[in-house]
Amino acid sequence: MRIEVLHGPNLNLLGPREPEIYGSGTLGEVDEGIRSVAAELGVDVDILQSNHEGVLVDRIQETSGSADGYVVNAGGYTHTSVALRDALVASGRPFVEVHLSNVHGRERFRRRSLLASAALGTVGGFGAASYTLALRGLVRHLEDSNEE
Ligand code: DQA
Repeated sequence: MRIEVLHGPNLNLLGPREPEIYGSGTLGEVDEGIRSVAAELGVDVDILQSNHEGVLVDRIQETSGSADGYVVNAGGYTHTSVALRDALVASGRPFVEVHLSNVHGRERFRRRSLLASAALGTVGGFGAASYTLALRGLVRHLEDSNEE
């Protein structure tokens, strides 16, 4: 099983970026946690961070034939990007929307997600653990659907 993990804009700044909201861990540390849970679950992961919407769309298109599902923290694009939603839906693969912070407890504009209604589920508010919880949930879902 292969899972594609996508980090959107500004997530490369984790650590120094608003640590009171996002924690002080770096993106490298987040990725280490993801790789360690992937190894525990026996799944392959590919991880990409990009600040560019089109790069994220390209990656989804390139991997839709090889990935079984996606774990996506689209950052600010969550609230704006029809293109990212369309690419994920077009992939035909399930995806989980991830946020480090609890977007519902912040500014009003963060409560709207263009991805949520197409997602298998959403995990937010648990810091780096949001990613690993999302990965566990997605893998469980894929295993259950393979058994059917
Ligand atoms: C975020 C929440 C978004 O609203 C914000 O634009 C981000 C990070 C999060 O992980 O909590 O860049 O997706």
